[in-house]
Amino acid sequence: MATPKIILTGDRPTGRLHIGHYVGSLRNRVALQNEGGYEKMFVFIADAQALTDNIDNPEKVRQNVIEVALDYLACGLDPERVTLFIQSQIPELCELSFYFMDLVSVSRLQRNPTVKTEIQMRGFQSSIPVGFFTYPISQAADIAAFRATTVPAGEDQKPMIEQATEIVRRFNNIYGETLVEPEILLPSNAACLRLPGTDGKAKMSKSLGNCIYLSDDADTVQKSVMSMYTDPTHIHVSDPGHLEGNTVFTYLDAFCRPEHFERYLPDYPNLDELKAHYQRGGLGDMKVKRFLANIMQELLEPIRQRRQEFAQDIPAVYDMLQKGCADARAVAAATLDDVRRAMKINYFDDAALIEEQAKRFAAQK
Ligand code: TRP
Repeated sequence: MATPKIILTGDRPTGRLHIGHYVGSLRNRVALQNEGGYEKMFVFIADAQALTDNIDNPEKVRQNVIEVALDYLACGLDPERVTLFIQSQIPELCELSFYFMDLVSVSRLQRNPTVKTEIQMRGFQSSIPVGFFTYPISQAADIAAFRATTVPAGEDQKPMIEQATEIVRRFNNIYGETLVEPEILLPSNAACLRLPGTDGKAKMSKSLGNCIYLSDDADTVQKSVMSMYTDPTHIHVSDPGHLEGNTVFTYLDAFCRPEHFERYLPDYPNLDELKAHYQRGGLGDMKVKRFLANIMQELLEPIRQRRQEFAQDIPAVYDMLQKGCADARAVAAATLDDVRRAMKINYFDDAALIEEQAKRFAAQK
């Protein structure tokens, strides 16, 4: 029997979601949801993981839980088809993490490249919180507790999914086939793997102020696009332009579809022709930026509108999340029953164990 496809992914609630999240994973999730062909789909807000490096700022995490929930709904995730929940409300995840900790060595954790970079970025050096250091283990538990087969995520999550796979494999080797090995599902387009910030820097980040948020108003989006980093050597319109490291073209690679040309730039048949003209010289940055701005506005307008609608009824959003938590918890609890049985810590529901021990001790009399 083929393993049923179970999709799971999540985000840390440390800020509103931006278009990097959108092309990196959100767009994929909504497409997967709409395609069907899966048994279950879970998307969750990783508040406990967010606390691992925000332990002194609980209010930030609390406020961003609802922001992320609104971003999800605005993008088209549908609670009728996807279980949306909050990580901290599923205590079974802590329990599974605790057992998983015995299946990973400290040196293996130290080799995780994403955690390595994050430790450097946060300046933790010699005072790394244990919970932060071990969050790949907790993430493996998030995935395994739902028997996820498919994890749509950005490239930075690759080491996490690899580590989760190793842990699951080790668990199954020791305790017998119980858990499911996951696979990451990356965006197919290279520009979407790591969308740069509007300033051309490698990553969108709130602290750099180079993000376009899904909830930004139309004016802010327009300004962000019109001031985007392009090619510093492309001074006059007639100068030949370069595409490498040119943020506007990277964004076009990520967002532009053929019908956008018909709608907003009918002089050009497709992106290749637009790029060729830019490289030859004679095509100004402003014209390309205006084209991109039209595309971004078309994408973001309905998202912004839906977000505002959902924001009108915040209690309903919490009701939806609470129901999602209850559904998710039932699934995780069933997995944990299997885990305890496999690990031989299911004392009270194992009649055979009690009977066998009773006989053995009776015989010793
Ligand atoms: N690490 C992810 C992020 O930075 C959030 C996350 C936690 C996650 N657990 C997960 C993603 C499990 C996919 C699967 O946003």
